[in-house]
Amino acid sequence: MADNANSFFAKPAVAIVTGASKGIGRAIAIEFAKRFTEGLLLVLTGRSDKDLQETVSLIQADSSSPSKLTVRCVVGDLQNQSTIQKLFGNLFEDINPSKYDHAILINNAGSTGDISKYVRNFGLNDLPELQDFFFLNVNCPLLLVSKFLSVFSVQESASSEKRPSRLTIVQITSLAAVIPIKSWSIYCTGKASRDALHRIIAAEEPSARVLSYGPGPVMTDMLRHGRDFSGDPDTANNLSELYKRAVQPQKTASVLCNFLEEDKYESGAHVEFGDITGAPR
Ligand SMILES: NC(=O)c1ccc[n+]([C@@H]2O[C@H](COP(=O)([O-])OP(=O)(O)OC[C@H]3O[C@@H](n4cnc5c(N)ncnc54)[C@H](OP(=O)(O)O)[C@@H]3O)[C@@H](O)[C@H]2O)c1
Repeated sequence: MADNANSFFAKPAVAIVTGASKGIGRAIAIEFAKRFTEGLLLVLTGRSDKDLQETVSLIQADSSSPSKLTVRCVVGDLQNQSTIQKLFGNLFEDINPSKYDHAILINNAGSTGDISKYVRNFGLNDLPELQDFFFLNVNCPLLLVSKFLSVFSVQESASSEKRPSRLTIVQITSLAAVIPIKSWSIYCTGKASRDALHRIIAAEEPSARVLSYGPGPVMTDMLRHGRDFSGDPDTANNLSELYKRAVQPQKTASVLCNFLEEDKYESGAHVEFGDITGAPR
């Protein structure tokens, strides 16, 4: 366990969480709000303003959230290439990096893509949807990390202004990055790409701590969608079984936070909820 002064949660921090309007991203935001003791700027993003406001209400309703907490919501579609520059601008707007000792990026937002069909059933008419999927799930995390480093990394800073001494980049991955799931070709490929991307970031940025965290099966809209709409019958059955033992988002967010605080992982590693808790993978 890291000593108190070096604890993950003990420094004034800024944390950007994508996909914080529901599910796992919302739970991570709530957990962060509770745990940071020396001040936290939480920047939350998603497409639904209403759901983001619900996340803020849940944070505010929690009496254990410390007073030195600011929450900022940025509404936007991370899949829309024509508005992405503006959205990134809004995300980092008004952040003074010299005010924070720890900067955190949680690349959580994601989608399943088309899970209704096998690879052999894709055609050229699917190209626009494939491009949208890979923009949201792979290109966007890459560009966000790049922007994050340009704002917070000492190496990127032209001035002698203070920068956070600690940088953490977490992406929410899946076991799908390493096992084949029939009719989930796009999702599996996207997650494998994201894992590779974050391994490379870890190699290129030794001053940052990088983690690919697989949250396990979690009761969210995404898992319900997978259970109900998988094209492959075996996959649909497996996901029905998985759903029965899925955990609540709060549980996996709490396990992630404890793991980050323990700080014993190899930067760039893919670590599953089950690896940490002993639950079946
Ligand atoms: N649930 C599981 O069992 C499970 C297992 C392994 C990995 N994961 C991963 O965990 C992450 C979170 O998933 P979840 O289960 O919490 O799903 P979820 O409840 O459906 O939440 C997905 C989040 O991503 C955001 N999002 C989706 N498309 C977006 C877009 N185009 N632009 C901006 N934001 C977008 C959604 O916000 P809006 O709807 O407001 O846009 C929402 O906040 C994903 O990367 C997923 O692959 C989940």
